[in-house]
Amino acid sequence: MRFERRDIISIKDFTRNEIDYILQTSEAIEPLEKSGSDMLHGKMLATLFFEPSTRTRLSFEAAMHRLGGTAIGFAGPEGASVKKGENLADTVRVVENYADTLILRHPLEGAARLAAEFAQIPVINAGSGAEEHPTQALLDLYTILKEKGQIDGLNIALTGDLRYGRTVHSLAYALSLYDVRLHLISPELLRMRREVLDTIRKEIKVTEGTDVSKVLPEIDVLYMTRIQKERFADMAEYAKVKGAYRIDHDMLAGVKDALVIMHPLPRIDEIASDIDTTPHARYFQQVRNGIIVRMALLALILGAAE
Ligand code: NCD
Repeated sequence: MRFERRDIISIKDFTRNEIDYILQTSEAIEPLEKSGSDMLHGKMLATLFFEPSTRTRLSFEAAMHRLGGTAIGFAGPEGASVKKGENLADTVRVVENYADTLILRHPLEGAARLAAEFAQIPVINAGSGAEEHPTQALLDLYTILKEKGQIDGLNIALTGDLRYGRTVHSLAYALSLYDVRLHLISPELLRMRREVLDTIRKEIKVTEGTDVSKVLPEIDVLYMTRIQKERFADMAEYAKVKGAYRIDHDMLAGVKDALVIMHPLPRIDEIASDIDTTPHARYFQQVRNGIIVRMALLALILGAAE
């Protein structure tokens, strides 16, 4: 399996074997998160972030540093020449002279694909509008695997903003490669995007609903998401769904003991803080897994791990 110089634009570009290989590499590289390594000494990544980020940008930079490489980049277009009107293709053709891989987050769907067409170096999509967030899906899978021992056979609910949430799009595509049952729980207005639904329905059993409490007793993994306020064209629509889903400690009566609750973060009000101290909460574990999976991805595409 070859990953060297490969772009990571959509999770759909990867087979189940390839995803499993990335997860195995993550497991193998996990000890280096503490000990550090000089595996990527002399390599540099550039982060081009046109949208806010805490975890994704910092974890890519941290992952690179842990493996002995370095990182440059900008967070927010304000400080970059984009502000002067430079287009994405030119920005990419400039920055690729400085770095070995580009990590791009952009509000437009298709932006990462476009950047990859112009760039000679590998591009990693760190979020393309409401479309996809493939590296988040990989760290989500890694978390499920670590917590549950396997992904096959699980009953999983994706909850919240399934229309605009890019993490659930990538995760749904990825999960459809496994033998899982998927429950999609959202307000009517925020149902899963048609194209995602059509694709995953060909592979796995999917149900849609609006009431999370109906599925809570039977699921193994509850994946919560934030309503993506910034993607709404009409704030009156947002007002209708704002705060639509919130789980708290009391709602967990009757759930499986081993239920795992995940969230890509940032959370607003979807998960009450009284859940943080229960054995179900795994969202901070996801954060830790984020750096491990990104170390593995960087090692793979920069040719240091095979
Ligand atoms: C997510 C994103 O940017 O799509 N954040 C992240 O990368 N962990 C989720 C979100 O913003 O709601």
